Amino acid sequence: RILILDFGSQVTQLIARRVRESGVYCEVWPFTAGDDRIQAFAPKGIILSGGPASVTQAGSPRAPQSVFAMGVPLLGICYGQQTMCEQLGGKVEGSDHQEYGRAYVDVSEPCALFEGVWAPGAREQVWMSHGDHVTALPQGFRIVATSEGAPFAVVADDSRHYYGIQFHPEVVHTPHGAQLLRNFTHSVCGCSGDWTMAAFRAEAVERIRAQVGSGKVICGLSGGVDSSVAAVLIHEAIGDQLTCIYVDHGLMRAGETEQVVATFRDRFNIKLVHRDASEMFLGQLSGVTDPEKKRKTIGRLFIEVFEEEQAKIGGADFLAQGTLYPDVIESVSATGGPSVTIKSHHNVGGLPEGMRMKLVEPLRDLFKDEVRALGRELGMPEEIVGRHPFPGPGLAIRIPGEVTREKVQILQKADTIYLEEIRSAGLYDAIWQAFTVLLPVRTVGVMGDGRTYDSACALRAVTSTDGMTADVYPFTMEFLTRVAGRIVNEVRGINRVTYDITSKPPGTIEWE
Ligand code: XMP
Repeated sequence: RILILDFGSQVTQLIARRVRESGVYCEVWPFTAGDDRIQAFAPKGIILSGGPASVTQAGSPRAPQSVFAMGVPLLGICYGQQTMCEQLGGKVEGSDHQEYGRAYVDVSEPCALFEGVWAPGAREQVWMSHGDHVTALPQGFRIVATSEGAPFAVVADDSRHYYGIQFHPEVVHTPHGAQLLRNFTHSVCGCSGDWTMAAFRAEAVERIRAQVGSGKVICGLSGGVDSSVAAVLIHEAIGDQLTCIYVDHGLMRAGETEQVVATFRDRFNIKLVHRDASEMFLGQLSGVTDPEKKRKTIGRLFIEVFEEEQAKIGGADFLAQGTLYPDVIESVSATGGPSVTIKSHHNVGGLPEGMRMKLVEPLRDLFKDEVRALGRELGMPEEIVGRHPFPGPGLAIRIPGEVTREKVQILQKADTIYLEEIRSAGLYDAIWQAFTVLLPVRTVGVMGDGRTYDSACALRAVTSTDGMTADVYPFTMEFLTRVAGRIVNEVRGINRVTYDITSKPPGTIEWE
């Protein structure tokens, strides 16, 4: 396995992805990780990532000295190259010639990293993003590729197996970048490349057993992909030591609660407490119209109900969460201070922060699509592993204004039709999220010979990779009119349908 030490680059996660895609297990740790921890991990090679700081600044981040004493291959990328060269006795300087974006390197000599892709004399496209560059090499290094802004574009010390790259091989704009990384992990470090999701599953099960021992674990199940996969994985490891608590706030999509309960109880034999608290949630939401107040009310009740149920089963030693890699922002400050900020997981409208329990987070090192692959590996149904993200407060934030049981039921019907049509058109997987919003607007319509005066509803469908930015999904007019026709005809209470074509930014995905 490979260890990636993170100096805070925006694209460090991509290095991890590329390494895993080549069949090699890896983990990303902050560069402040302790020597003991690094040695215990026993990596076959270490990659030093890029980062926003400048090696020329006093107090800027450095690689732990121990990585140079372990006798394992090293690959420094961008900032990682610069700090490696500096720490080994070379020199780094700022320059007027900054390079951002597409650039070209001239390959001057053969190198283990280039096997099968780059030959001496070739000019190759890469993606650069740097102001500083290496100006003097440490002993033992040679230059194997150059660029206009970085005379030391790729450097190598073959005897120690240390390599430095000024550009970013992990991004797609460096066309052969994945192969360069693969050459490092496979040829230089000797990784076999046989790591798979099945191997991850087996290792994760062992890790969970070792962590939990004979302790009791509870898991707040939301029906979403992350908590569902975490629960099934943990159940595989410790069986009935795990109890899942499903707090039903009555704001799920039609049929979703029944599906979650059936899947987990009947199919996976997981101990599941299903608490129907919909009366309580809807009661407390009565008269609440402000979106943030809705979220807070739901979050507070969720914790109350969760704690009640936890007390009923006699407490637990561990709390399981489906936290993913992107939820864990291990940010490293430009000055090298060991500041680690963890963004709290907000899948279920805010999990009990005050609960002083140890956390079991078996998905911490994975990306969303890897979690889906793991779910499939565990035999989970496609309706769960492929499911669109769904907000913790559920339909409450898709009903601007006051939430009532009647409005929830109307919205559920419209939503079911919309998703049915999306699935039967084969579009579900091409869309990040699709849902209906029940608008607090009544408009006049005509049905048969009669006048109607009912609610309007909006359809929303967006594409996105992480929910941070989003684009409207370009349905055909034929598809939209079919959905509108069905909703107006089949759902009493809605007589008008609109399509929301706002991107994010400036809009948000949800309406509240
Ligand atoms: P916005 O509306 O901010 O949504 O563009 C971005 C993503 O976050 C989800 N979302 C939430 N998820 N609790 C959640 O668990 C919330 O309060 C919440 N609000 C928005 C939204 O569905 C989208 O995936």
